[in-house]
Amino acid sequence: MRLFTSIAALRCYLNLQKSAAPDVEVGLVPTMGALHAGHLSLIRRARQENAIAVVSIFVNPLQFGPTEDFQDYPRNLEQDRLLCERAGVDVIFAPAAGEMFGQAIDAGSQLAVAPIQAASLTQVVPPPTMTAVLCGKSRPGHFQGVATIVLKLLNIVQPTRAYFGQKDAQQLAIIRKLVADFNWPVGIVPCSIVREDSGLAMSSRNQYLTAEQKQQASVLYRALQQAEQAFKSGDRAAATALATVKAAAAQVPEVQIEYAELVDPDTLTRLETVETAGLLAVAARVGPARLIDNIILKNRRPIVAIDGPAGAGKSTVTRQAARALGLSYLDTGAMYRALTWRALATNTPISDAPAIAELVNSSYLEYNLDPASFMMKINGEDVTEAIRSLAVTARVSEIAAHLAVRQFMVKQQQQCGKLGGIVAEGRDIGTNVFPDAELKIFLTASVRERARRRQLELKDTGRGDIGLAQLEQDIALRDEKDSTRKIAPLRKADDAVEISTDGLSISEVIDRIIALYKERIGAPSASPIAGN
Ligand code: PAF
Repeated sequence: MRLFTSIAALRCYLNLQKSAAPDVEVGLVPTMGALHAGHLSLIRRARQENAIAVVSIFVNPLQFGPTEDFQDYPRNLEQDRLLCERAGVDVIFAPAAGEMFGQAIDAGSQLAVAPIQAASLTQVVPPPTMTAVLCGKSRPGHFQGVATIVLKLLNIVQPTRAYFGQKDAQQLAIIRKLVADFNWPVGIVPCSIVREDSGLAMSSRNQYLTAEQKQQASVLYRALQQAEQAFKSGDRAAATALATVKAAAAQVPEVQIEYAELVDPDTLTRLETVETAGLLAVAARVGPARLIDNIILKNRRPIVAIDGPAGAGKSTVTRQAARALGLSYLDTGAMYRALTWRALATNTPISDAPAIAELVNSSYLEYNLDPASFMMKINGEDVTEAIRSLAVTARVSEIAAHLAVRQFMVKQQQQCGKLGGIVAEGRDIGTNVFPDAELKIFLTASVRERARRRQLELKDTGRGDIGLAQLEQDIALRDEKDSTRKIAPLRKADDAVEISTDGLSISEVIDRIIALYKERIGAPSASPIAGN
C-alpha cells in the first residue's frame, strides 16, 4: 500500500498504472478518517469492484461551521493506515490543507484554514432547494464545502467509481446531482448503513459518546423502524411517520431531536405522502454529539432479481415464475438483443464504441411486461422473434459491454421497476440494476447441461444442429466474457440465493422460487396479469 500526501505523487502513480493498463478501473472512497466498520464496508466494495482502491483521508475545513467540531474531529492516521492496509487498499491519499487549497497556510496543518482563505476559493454551490432542508438548515455552507471537496477529489483521482454511505443521505443526493449536472464520468455507488448491534448507525462522531449515551442514541433507529412499521401497515402520510418518530424518541429524554423530516430521496423536497419512495431522516443531539440517521420508505411491490449465466434457463423460468407470482416480467437480455439486432440491421460496427453510443441515442424500445405475451419492438419494428437468431446471440455480449449501452438500458430497467411488482432477469440485476431487490436469485447450471439444452432447443426450433463440443466451447467463452468484462460483469450478489438447475425440471425450479418468495416476502398477491 502507498500513502501519498501530494497531488503530484498520487497523479504520477495513477498515470503509471493507467499507462500500463489504459482501462484500469479505480475506486475512490472519500473519507475524513477515523475509519469505522461503515467506512470499511465502502472500502470492501471498492476493493471488490476495482483494480485500484484509493481511500482519501482529509478532514475538510470547508464543511465545518465556525462553532462546529473541526478542531476536535477524531484524527488517527496511523490506525486508519493499518485498517486500510488490512482491507487491501492500494493507495491512501492524505493531503494537508495547504496541498488541497493551494494556499500558503501553515504547511502540514489541517487546522489552519481561516474563513478568509475559504472566501478566496472557487466553490461549488449545490441547488439551494437541496441545501436549505434537513441538515442544511442548521449547517449553512456545509454542503457547499462537501460538494467543493468532492469535486476536487474527483478531479484529482479521476475514479471510475466513488463510494458514499447512505447514512449521509442528503450528501449522497447532492453529490449525485453534482455529478449529473457537471457530466462527470464517474459511477456514484451508494452503500447501506452499517449499524452497531444496538441499531445505532456507525459514525466517527460516536467516539464522542459514552457507552450509556450510545445506548440512548440507539432509540433513533428504533424510532425510524416504528415509523416504517406504520408505513408498511398502509399509512403513507408524512404526518404519521414524523409523529411516530418523535413520540418514540421522546421516550429517551437525553436524545434531543433536531429535526425529523420526510423528503424525496433524490430531490430532497418535502413529501406529504409517499407515492413511490420517501427518505425519513432524523438529526438529534446526544451529549456532545450531533447524530443523523435515516431509513428509506418504499411504496412499491416486491422486485425479484434473477441473474445467471447464458443458457441456465433464466428466460423460461423467469417468465413462468412471474406468471405464478402475479408479477410483471422484465427480460433485460431481450433489450440488449434488440439493440444488437438494430446494430446488425443498420451495419453499425459493433466494436466501434462511439458509433454504438450514437445508435443508442437514436434507439427507442417498446416492450410488454406481461409474462403471457412478451413483445419487443425497436424503433417501431417488432423483433420479438428476430432477436433469438444465432447472429444476434453471437454478438449480444459485445453490445452489452459498451458503457453507453449499459447506462441507457439500466436507466430504462430502473424506470420499469419504479413501482416494483416485477421479476427481472439478466446479468447484473441484483448487483447493479436493483441492488435493493427483495429477493435475489442466481440461477446457474453446468456448462455441459447448458450446452445440452441449447442443442435440443436449436434442433426443436429448426435453427440448426450444432455439435455438443462446439456449444460447450461457445458457452464457456460467453461465460468468460460476461464475468470478466469491465462493465457490469456477471457476478452473484452477496445476498443472492444460488439455484443450480442441473437435474431439475423447470417446474421444480419454479417451485423453489415460489417457496423462496413466500419465505422472504410473504404470500404472492392476487395476480393482475396471470391468466391473460
Ligand atoms: O462523508 C464524509 O466523510 C465527508 O463529507 C466527505 C464525503 C469525505 C467529504 O469531506
